[in-house]
Amino acid sequence: MKINENFQKLPAGYLFSEISRRVAEFRTNHPEVKLIHMGIGDVTLPLPNAVIEAMSKAVLDMADAQTFHGYGPEQGYASLRDLIAENDYKARGVDITPDEIFISDGAKSDCANLGDLFDVDNIVAVCDPVYPVYVDSNVMAGRGGELDETGKWSNILYLNCSADNGFVPAIPESKADLIYLCFPNNPTGVVASRDQLKAWVDYALSNQAVILFDSAYEAFITDESIPHSIYEIEGAKECAIEIRSFSKTAGFTGMRCGYTVVPKALKRGGASLRDMWNRRQSTKFNGASYIIQCGAAAVYSDSGKREVRENIDYYMNNAKIIASALKAAGISFFGGENAPYIWFKAPNEADSWALFDRLLNEANVITTPGAGFGPCGEGYIRLTAFGNATETAEAVKRIVSLIQ
Ligand code: MLT
Repeated sequence: MKINENFQKLPAGYLFSEISRRVAEFRTNHPEVKLIHMGIGDVTLPLPNAVIEAMSKAVLDMADAQTFHGYGPEQGYASLRDLIAENDYKARGVDITPDEIFISDGAKSDCANLGDLFDVDNIVAVCDPVYPVYVDSNVMAGRGGELDETGKWSNILYLNCSADNGFVPAIPESKADLIYLCFPNNPTGVVASRDQLKAWVDYALSNQAVILFDSAYEAFITDESIPHSIYEIEGAKECAIEIRSFSKTAGFTGMRCGYTVVPKALKRGGASLRDMWNRRQSTKFNGASYIIQCGAAAVYSDSGKREVRENIDYYMNNAKIIASALKAAGISFFGGENAPYIWFKAPNEADSWALFDRLLNEANVITTPGAGFGPCGEGYIRLTAFGNATETAEAVKRIVSLIQ
């Protein structure tokens, strides 16, 4: 037999696994030191009460033969899909029907699994820096080619992002087939304007390309002129798939629930991508758990919406704490206004991993090195706003005094 040799091409560790390894090593050597987490974008506040109550009731449903739920629909319960269509789309003037929505166990899996719909020869375009799942999952599928000495894959089209273009990539001159876009962006925290998204939709339509639009962080948008969904752009239903998550919005990182929208209008090669995704999910996925979906539905109740808002406001206040400390120290940065990530470059350190290690060892703060998101991230560090407010203020104070 032959294994999938593409796995052999991948660097040994996934970004966040490598960070965990370094942190574990530090902890073994310094068990007495309390570290402050500003690394992986993991929420820290408890779930909203509305979610806890709905899930508690769902647990009791499972204890009674009359209300017990076995296998659910692979696409997710109709009641949750209705709520999503109504609240996340119709309320913003976007017409998405429930049968275009597929509930999943999270955005990360969907981002990676969507590759099943596309041929191995398609050209994939990603921003650099980028959420590593888009790249690694395509390398596993055989769309990467070879890794060069700069850390780039030969068959992937990198859309370079830098301080010069505000970390929003220019439309490429060459043709891409599959384009991963994430706005508000992970890792840089920047957003794309309506005009910038329109340019991507126009490009995708004229190249018969498909945009995979990751809007896991849309709930953090504060600027009302910024689209929350790619479908707010005319023509997007003919060229884009949108992936969303309850993880960051409602604190579901440990629960696992997200959804993907594949519009019926999206056809390629004479086939409906919606029908293909339906076929894929029915075959390889048995639906998200009943209890978790009941929790997700509660996010749309009045009290759920209020509590979710309070939690997001808490995190965005952390973002403000970080931003004002960096500003006061004269350190320029991106993000933090419409996203829970802050992306900055240290004045005196050009190597992200070296700075990560110094911040860990000397400031006792866990961060994420920008180079882990791609070569254009070199020199940068990503901070998350998902921590506790007091610890966030302390961490950023230590960071600033170390790097200034
Ligand atoms: C991150 O820190 O980039 C994210 O939390 C990772 C994820 O959502 O999988």
